Amino acid sequence: MKNRIHADVLIVGSGLSGLSAALNLAERGLKVTVVTKEAIDVSNSANAQGGIATVSDFNVDSFEKHIQDTLTAGAGLNDIEAVRFFVENGPDAIRHFEQLGIHFTENEAGQLDLGREGGHTERRVVHAGDITGFELIKVVKKAVLLHPNITVLENHTAIDLISESKFFFSEDNRVVGAYVLSDRGEVMTIIANSVLLATGGCGKVYLYTSNPNVTTGDGLAIGFRAGVPVVNMEMIQFHPTILYHEKINSMLISEALRGEGGVLIDKHGNTFMEKYHPLKSLAPRDIVARAIDHEMKMSGDDCVFLDMTKLDGDFLQKRFPNIFRICLNGGIDMRTMPIPVVPAAHYSCGGLRSTPKGTTEIPGLFVSGEVAHTGLHGANRLASNSLLEAAVMAKYVAEEIAEYTSKTKPSSYEPPDWDSGNAEDEDEKIIIKQNWDEVRRIMWNYVGIVRSNKRLERALARLELMKHEITEYYWNFKVSRDLLELRNITLVAELIIRSAMKRKESRGLHFNIDYQFKLDTIQNTVVTPAEIL
Ligand code: SIN
Repeated sequence: MKNRIHADVLIVGSGLSGLSAALNLAERGLKVTVVTKEAIDVSNSANAQGGIATVSDFNVDSFEKHIQDTLTAGAGLNDIEAVRFFVENGPDAIRHFEQLGIHFTENEAGQLDLGREGGHTERRVVHAGDITGFELIKVVKKAVLLHPNITVLENHTAIDLISESKFFFSEDNRVVGAYVLSDRGEVMTIIANSVLLATGGCGKVYLYTSNPNVTTGDGLAIGFRAGVPVVNMEMIQFHPTILYHEKINSMLISEALRGEGGVLIDKHGNTFMEKYHPLKSLAPRDIVARAIDHEMKMSGDDCVFLDMTKLDGDFLQKRFPNIFRICLNGGIDMRTMPIPVVPAAHYSCGGLRSTPKGTTEIPGLFVSGEVAHTGLHGANRLASNSLLEAAVMAKYVAEEIAEYTSKTKPSSYEPPDWDSGNAEDEDEKIIIKQNWDEVRRIMWNYVGIVRSNKRLERALARLELMKHEITEYYWNFKVSRDLLELRNITLVAELIIRSAMKRKESRGLHFNIDYQFKLDTIQNTVVTPAEIL
């Protein structure tokens, strides 16, 4: 049949988790198809600057200290067993990448150079200059593209999963593939014994983000529509320091700069972080982002500044070559002038409910990386724990998928071809653009760093109206990537708002001015598909 392909495993997403899992599975002899919305190396992982948080120097550091820092940042909402699992698997992940050929930066003694970032009480961030994600993806991508068992479909957008029963809530539910919009605009049916969602986060739900354009929460929305609940989706992390520049968008100014001694100041050169936390500019991210938001609102200024001028110029150029160059090209010489910065949406600490090994409650459906909620991050992710999670999960989810595949017969169910709507509408593009902008603006203004009951109610009411319009489009018109992404960001926005409404306290990344306290009972926020679909 036309547009129908078979694989053992379908992986949606080509960040660190998706590609590492693909390689692992292919080496076990499984046929893997990877679908990704743009080029294989466009992902949040590829943009990661900081590095991988893991204990390397056991003379001064320990697993217990890394666990404690993760729990402190996570404001008590972490799952301690999950935290232990990821922290203790860190050194193995580093060894694995070194064997693949990744060169992490070393110090003069030939040992791993360890960076420091906010919330870490020790230096433990293993990095490759200030382009760790880029280096990781470069090497893993090369191995993936050379592997005969892996097919990569670039510029393909997953639409929805296919389940054997067709009724996602039924007991014998089993995922057997997905419908995917091809680069030719046709909908393909990809049949697979198991599907791994490794689509990353949802930064594009917000007007300002450090994330690339592809992060529209597709995996979150697809998994939720398939029946997996989401956990703690109100915990959206805002990175405190994104470059504020009229021409350079979404450029992260790594926390590692503050780790090396960078200090936040206002436009008059005054420091302010001492008012908010004893760790000052190196306080956990939620506190720094909220402090900057507060300072900007009080002063009416468009940004604050990160002052690196007290550090040695040669050191800055050597330690942060990429950030240094991009700033300089934008007219900012960080040796002599402070860098203008603002907070922006960066990371989703919540996600699809899963075990640390990436299994979900739906047979045949697995998740890995930012799209998953494993319990590692709690109410606020510790810096550079994200690549740690992505790397460790990839290994274990591959084991789980291989085991599932060995025990499960291929499905005899032949899903029907996708039934495309046949009308195209001249107005479609403008309506999609209008709704895209509106969702992102609503989320930034009403569901951002500081929330209130009234803002959340307003945001939900607006989204309900849009949802109606978007659903009508979805069913009546041919699907396009823009429409699919709009449908997904709208659902993810709703999940964030509904989760935020359920949390009647302020904790970690979720700050509601109507509940400026922490409850004694610590609880995850769960939203199930049955509640809203
Ligand atoms: C950064 O380099 O500041 C980002 C790293 C992270 O998000 O953990």
